[in-house]
Amino acid sequence: MAIKKIMAMVFVVAALCMLNTRAAYVEDAYPAYFSYSGSTGPQFWGSLSPSYAKCSNGTAQSPINIVNRDTVLNRSLNALNIQFRDSVNATLINYGFKVEILFRGDAGTLVFRGKTYALSEIHWHTPSDHRIDGIQFTAELHMVHSAADSSRAVVSVLLQSGQSDPIVTKIQQQLGQLPMRPPNQTPPEIPLVNLNIQELRNLTTTRRYYTYPGSLTNPPCTEGITWIIIGKIGTISKAQVAALKRPLDNGSKNNARPVQPLNGRKVEVYQAMFP
Ligand SMILES: *[C@@H]1O[C@H](CO)[C@@H](O)[C@H](O)[C@H]1NC(C)=O
Ligand SMILES: *[C@@H]1O[C@H](CO)[C@@H](O)[C@H](O)[C@H]1NC(C)=O
Ligand SMILES: *[C@@H]1O[C@H](CO)[C@@H](O)[C@H](O)[C@H]1NC(C)=O
Ligand SMILES: *[C@@H]1O[C@H](CO)[C@@H](O)[C@H](O)[C@H]1NC(C)=O
Ligand SMILES: *[C@@H]1O[C@H](CO)[C@@H](O)[C@H](O)[C@H]1NC(C)=O
Repeated sequence: MAIKKIMAMVFVVAALCMLNTRAAYVEDAYPAYFSYSGSTGPQFWGSLSPSYAKCSNGTAQSPINIVNRDTVLNRSLNALNIQFRDSVNATLINYGFKVEILFRGDAGTLVFRGKTYALSEIHWHTPSDHRIDGIQFTAELHMVHSAADSSRAVVSVLLQSGQSDPIVTKIQQQLGQLPMRPPNQTPPEIPLVNLNIQELRNLTTTRRYYTYPGSLTNPPCTEGITWIIIGKIGTISKAQVAALKRPLDNGSKNNARPVQPLNGRKVEVYQAMFP
């Protein structure tokens, strides 16, 4: 096959990458299979692949248990500056250890401590990764944002059992069609055309949030992640939790990582001052 043709393809791919300069979406690599139980479970993640080393020898890992009386009120923090587009094209992906909505193009923007991040994907953990005063919730929604320098900020909403979650409702039909992931196969995908994600606005409208420096909560457990945990608890129905778990691998139905030591980190709190 012609070298020219390959060069042309490389050029097209490079050109497409350059068009998307707004955000440096970081696609994590998963060189080794991992799960949430047995010999590929959380206590072994760090030894499954050299690129997962941070899972065992990191010092600023996530999730954590947020103890309210140990948090630090920071009056210099601002109300959360976060926006979502009305309609986005996306892909529902089953990684086996999580179900994710990957956004194709501009989905939303977070401005935090002077840095602008673009919304790249959202996914769920059932039960929650983070705990507040020792309480683990039914589920946790992670909105992963990437900045141009490829640093990441995750906005997290804890969900307790109750009314349906409006975003899961929107994808519930496709969730029902999402195949399980056979071992070593590429993650199954279903396109989501013109998905309205405005309901994320209500979930993130809050008078209180927590922030601390941490890591991805699954391999490669990359550190340098800015965590923003919304202080307002949302709800999710039992049927929706079952729908999120159903496509996951048998060893990852409960995809919450045990809480990690703070190692001297401080959790800061934003609290709105006026009603
Ligand atoms: C963590 O493990 C990786 C890979 O084994 C190694 O390169 C790195 O130096 C280790 N870091 C610490 C702090 O032990
Ligand atoms: C409080 O937040 C401000 C603004 O982000 C930051 O510059 C400052 O370091 C924070 N203070 C503490 C004590 O964490
Ligand atoms: C989403 O995809 C559809 C079908 O390909 C297209 O018509 C529409 O313009 C796209 N929407 C956005 C916001 O890109
Ligand atoms: C926003 O969320 C609150 C719960 O936090 C709920 O009571 C309310 O109905 C929601 N509003 C909309 C428009 O979805
Ligand atoms: C997963 O569990 C179900 C129900 O127990 C079982 O039927 C299925 O064979 C299991 N799949 C794998 C890949 O182990």
